[in-house]
Amino acid sequence: MLTIDSLLRTSSFVNGFWVDAENGDTFGVVNPADGTELARVSDLSPADARSAVVAAHDAFPDWSARLAEERASLLMQWHDLMMENADDLALLMTLEQGKPISEARGEVAYGAAFVKWFAEEARRAYGDVIPSHDTDKRILALRQAVGVVLTVTPWNFPIAMITRKAAAALAAGCTVISKPAEDTPLSALALARLSELAGLPPGVFNVIPTSRPAEVVEALMADTRIRKVSFTGSTEVGKIIMGQAAPSVKRVSLELGGNAPFIVFDDADVDVAARDVLASKYRNAGQTCVCANRIFVQDGIYDAFLDAYRRLHTGLRVGPGVDEESDIGPLINQEAVDKVVRLLDGATQQGARIVLGGGLIDGAAIGGGSHAPGNTFFAPTIVEGVRDDMALASEEIFGPVSAIYRFSTEEDVIRRANDTPFGLAAYFHARDNARIWRVSEALEYGIVGVNTGTISTPVAPFGGMKESGFGREGSRFGMDQYLEIKYVCIGGLSR
Ligand code: SIN
Repeated sequence: MLTIDSLLRTSSFVNGFWVDAENGDTFGVVNPADGTELARVSDLSPADARSAVVAAHDAFPDWSARLAEERASLLMQWHDLMMENADDLALLMTLEQGKPISEARGEVAYGAAFVKWFAEEARRAYGDVIPSHDTDKRILALRQAVGVVLTVTPWNFPIAMITRKAAAALAAGCTVISKPAEDTPLSALALARLSELAGLPPGVFNVIPTSRPAEVVEALMADTRIRKVSFTGSTEVGKIIMGQAAPSVKRVSLELGGNAPFIVFDDADVDVAARDVLASKYRNAGQTCVCANRIFVQDGIYDAFLDAYRRLHTGLRVGPGVDEESDIGPLINQEAVDKVVRLLDGATQQGARIVLGGGLIDGAAIGGGSHAPGNTFFAPTIVEGVRDDMALASEEIFGPVSAIYRFSTEEDVIRRANDTPFGLAAYFHARDNARIWRVSEALEYGIVGVNTGTISTPVAPFGGMKESGFGREGSRFGMDQYLEIKYVCIGGLSR
């Protein structure tokens, strides 16, 4: 059992109280690095979760009416506490999620930075005074908080995916019910504890862990008091949530699956490109929606790139996230391993060739020995000769597998890169200025990284096109998702 001080919370946080499930049910949170149970957390039923709706609904009038400055300073206090407790938050995250501790520290800072960003933005939710069409009238556009917001977030970023929704919503004056992933509720509950210490009023930020997400979310989506849902997760579940929003016409933001192309053109700096592909591909063991999923390399530099890319792998260490030396941690669970194995097997059976890795390792280093039961440490893998009609090309791998594709012309690679229902992130390396503009504009993706493999920051709008969803998180656009525009027409001015 885990015992890191007061940040370890196992009850839900509703209306400022730590509350267990009515029937006392709990579920286990497992460390993916060794399969041990870290803690048991309250397992909320749909009826339990409804108490959070009452709390958030009751808290809304006061919270939304407060001065922006007041909300901003409470959020800033929350940010500061996150940073003061960054080491404990990172350890908790690594234990329940598996990512290397250095990445967990990075995520705590990334998550806290959203809180700071939106604390600053709270004061700038400006409306407009519009030149009137009539001398007798004045026209205003006010921006007002949407209401109670439900956030539904995944296990791959247990803190940052919550704060980039919740901080924007809270800054706008909304109240929040956060439903964390069942694999990683401890980080969310630690955030709730810090929100309590920061002085956020009861009911303003609530966290409801459950092992029955589909049932609980369905019940909450049917509640007309919830006015907005923001979801990060699979496209499949996103479509269900979008359907559930229809009867009460809830506002929806969806950040869904990706199938990111990373294109390396002939004019790229091959070594720099190889380094950036590696950074994009193996972040969080390949378990992000923006990881390079298809690596397209142009004919003229194909061999040089593969050589450089392969050489970079010799320095990678795979092991438990708590080990400071680890670059890549375990996959989240056996299901994740099974998916990667299925995609790789399918590709090799259809003629793809494994260049490096290709299976589980013992958690020590690449090339390590035995396959312990429950081991989810997957070796960084390079596979070439992949074709666009293989499942490896059309599904999100969510594991440390670099699938390399060859291409000849710019026109061809743009067509292939766009030939997917997804449109979250895309990357390319090139030096020709005209090509940089042309390709950036031609890629049908919400995010395009040019000569970089890292694009995530609170100051930029994060979000997708097509079946990768809609709505933007972070940046000055992030708060729009939680604000209604109200048109006020003041007449009778010339009477
Ligand atoms: C995600 O994987 O959904 C988010 C990744 C990020 O914020 O960089």
